[in-house]
Amino acid sequence: MSKTVSIKDPSPLKYVKKPMLKSTMSTSAMSSQSNLSNYDNSQLFSYNLGDSLKSSSSSKLVPTPVVYQTQSNNGTPFYASSSANNSTGAALAVLNCASSLTNFSISDSPPPVSYEDKNDPNILEKFEFKTTVGTGTFGRVICVKHKEKKDYFALKIMSIAEVLRLKQTDHVKNEKEILNLVNHPFIIKLYWTHHNEKFLYMLCEFVCGGELFTYLRNCVKFSNDTANFYSAEIVCALEYLHSLSIIYRDLKPENLLLDRDGHIRICDFGFAKKVYDRTWTLCGTPEYLAPEIIQGKGHHKAVDWWALGILVFEMLAGYPPFYDEMPFQIYQKILSGKIEWPKFIDLTAKDLIKKLLVSDRTKRLGTMKNGVEDIKNHKWFRSVDWEAVPYKKLTPPIIPRVSHDGDTSRFDRYDEENWKDVQSVSAKNLEPFQDF
Ligand SMILES: Nc1ncnc2c1ncn2[C@@H]1O[C@H](COP(=O)(O)OP(=O)(O)O)[C@@H](O)[C@H]1O
Ligand SMILES: [Mg+2]
Repeated sequence: MSKTVSIKDPSPLKYVKKPMLKSTMSTSAMSSQSNLSNYDNSQLFSYNLGDSLKSSSSSKLVPTPVVYQTQSNNGTPFYASSSANNSTGAALAVLNCASSLTNFSISDSPPPVSYEDKNDPNILEKFEFKTTVGTGTFGRVICVKHKEKKDYFALKIMSIAEVLRLKQTDHVKNEKEILNLVNHPFIIKLYWTHHNEKFLYMLCEFVCGGELFTYLRNCVKFSNDTANFYSAEIVCALEYLHSLSIIYRDLKPENLLLDRDGHIRICDFGFAKKVYDRTWTLCGTPEYLAPEIIQGKGHHKAVDWWALGILVFEMLAGYPPFYDEMPFQIYQKILSGKIEWPKFIDLTAKDLIKKLLVSDRTKRLGTMKNGVEDIKNHKWFRSVDWEAVPYKKLTPPIIPRVSHDGDTSRFDRYDEENWKDVQSVSAKNLEPFQDF
């Protein structure tokens, strides 16, 4: 149970974008200073886990689950892509619709180039590079325009040398595989991937409304109704991912985009993973990490419901419930479970957040016998028509002010120079990316 304690609220002005943890280290490995030298993102790894955290993390590094468990959602609908290759614009197939509920189809825009073209070494010349809309750990996302068809896309470009240096090969491959597998109205669509000797490329739909992060920081905090709308669309997307045994693991406002009409689109599947039992990788964003990730206990989809609790709090308060400038202090606060509740937070929202931020994941809402239904049936969502949600029937509270589909004005500005100046990698180092 969370207790109320008196801590100083972080200033929303000081509270900036959250760095990610990109590590395949165990928490026990992290606690060894010698291992820290393998990772030179000092902002992320300039701390050491204390003894209290170490103790539970030994011998937890068996990352390969052997048990295959189909996840039954107690009558909730299952949706799955009808094809592992969505470059054909495959419509959504409802695979296991146990409750005769939703059976919606989504009209995908056709892919901008045929899948075969992806091996054309000159494929990038078909695009005009417009504006960088985001930068990340290994590269950047650029809004590009197809020269013939005039459509806009988001091209995620990752430096292979950086991916190798940060030991993220598996994560970027997961990102591609999972985006190829999924097809859902609130998840970005991946059209194709490509690589050369310097970069990995992922061509996605361009979501022009910008990051939820920006809207949240601009208005400091959302109204109860606004937060409720975004939460409902996110619950719908997470339910879908979990039905495919995919955990997302990086829920936060920076990874939530708004489409032109104001509906949610989740991007950044760099930490998403198919998990049938548990997984042990330490990854995510400090403020959003569930206690079991910090403790290296092995984790599963319950971590996404924890992160939902953090997100609902952050949307309503304007800052996350466990906050500090140092990740180590954040972890201590997460493990203590103590939250200071702003008075203005709606009491039903508070009740939901409390039930999501339960340290014992077996008692966390969303992970018990009724699965996601417990969340959907919570009184904070009492006005939500869940069947209408995936059809985008709820009215968005914010309509992004954009002039056309390729308008990048809702995104921050980034330096456009010198990003191509990265080293090429050897043929041997390229081998793991041959299928990319
Ligand atoms: N499909 C997209 N459309 C528009 N903007 C995008 C898209 N994908 C990513 N972005 C922008 O780029 C940023 C970084 O992309 P992301 O995939 O999150 O990379 P990273 O893994 O480095 O965080 C996002 O926060 C978002 O602002
Ligand atoms: Mg991101």
